[in-house]
Amino acid sequence: MRNIIFDCDPGHDDIMAIFAALANPEEFNILGFTTVCGNQTSDKVTKNLCRVLSYLDKDYVVVEGEKKPLIYNPEPQPLAHGESGLDGPILLDGKIRNKNINYLEFLESCLSTKTTIMALGPLTNIAKLISEKPHVIPNIEQIVIMGGSIYGGNILEKSEFNIYADPHAAKIVFDSGLDIVLAPLEVCDYCSLKHNVIDPFKSKGYVSNLTYEILEFFSRYSKERNKDKSPIFDLACTMYLLHKEAFVGKNAYVDVVLEGENRGQTIINYSSDGNVLVLESANNEFLQTKFIEYINRLDLEYKNNR
Ligand code: BDR
Ligand code: CA
Repeated sequence: MRNIIFDCDPGHDDIMAIFAALANPEEFNILGFTTVCGNQTSDKVTKNLCRVLSYLDKDYVVVEGEKKPLIYNPEPQPLAHGESGLDGPILLDGKIRNKNINYLEFLESCLSTKTTIMALGPLTNIAKLISEKPHVIPNIEQIVIMGGSIYGGNILEKSEFNIYADPHAAKIVFDSGLDIVLAPLEVCDYCSLKHNVIDPFKSKGYVSNLTYEILEFFSRYSKERNKDKSPIFDLACTMYLLHKEAFVGKNAYVDVVLEGENRGQTIINYSSDGNVLVLESANNEFLQTKFIEYINRLDLEYKNNR
């Protein structure tokens, strides 16, 4: 059983990564959630996460983290995630609320024991943790990051959003000497869901219905471009920990472009000593089947607990 913390900006795909973890309680002991300014403002993404956890009746600690990147200004992405950061479902406030404590102190308390960090947004919180609480570093078992790309980007020609949003933070994390696994855009394509897999979730069960509403919005972009599937980026991180055998990756030295027209580009060099395990490909069919299984499992769990 692995202790994990999600540091995230939910975000449609962040929620799917969280669902996959919630469906596997024998694999993951979730210590809590910190949020970060990314796809939307930190207050919006925090609210989204609290509402989803309330919907599921899951009692976890949620702590709002940084409101802006280390150097640059926030750049919310309403085109990808909507004005709320989680457009699609209509969710109400519930019993889970942002805990009004310092997120670094919360992470520090979680890291009194070996814990893996699932970093699903810009790396601002994690860079601050490394800089301001270096004594916790030995207890960071691993960081699994969704970010960067090997060939092409999604926010600039060569840059992926999470790394673009806070390249200075990403550089601090990549240079930290920690055990890092990176899921760049290319491997996230292997965590795509076909639209004809998403559609049957509609009205099927309590969790599958929410999954449908979230993914229906998130897949619009791909549908409009006549693609038959949508990448569920952050899901790759949880799937990697659950099914390492389904992934192929290589060690590489990863650096980040801090400014200019390629701001946020990850420069991946396979010829020198690696600081990061860069995931490259995965078994898409297998992971898709597993994801369906996990959502069905959460439906069943919800039904049995009523
Ligand atoms: C990343 O950007 C965010 O909007 C997604 O949640 C994901 O973490 C993909 O580039
Ligand atoms: Ca995210």
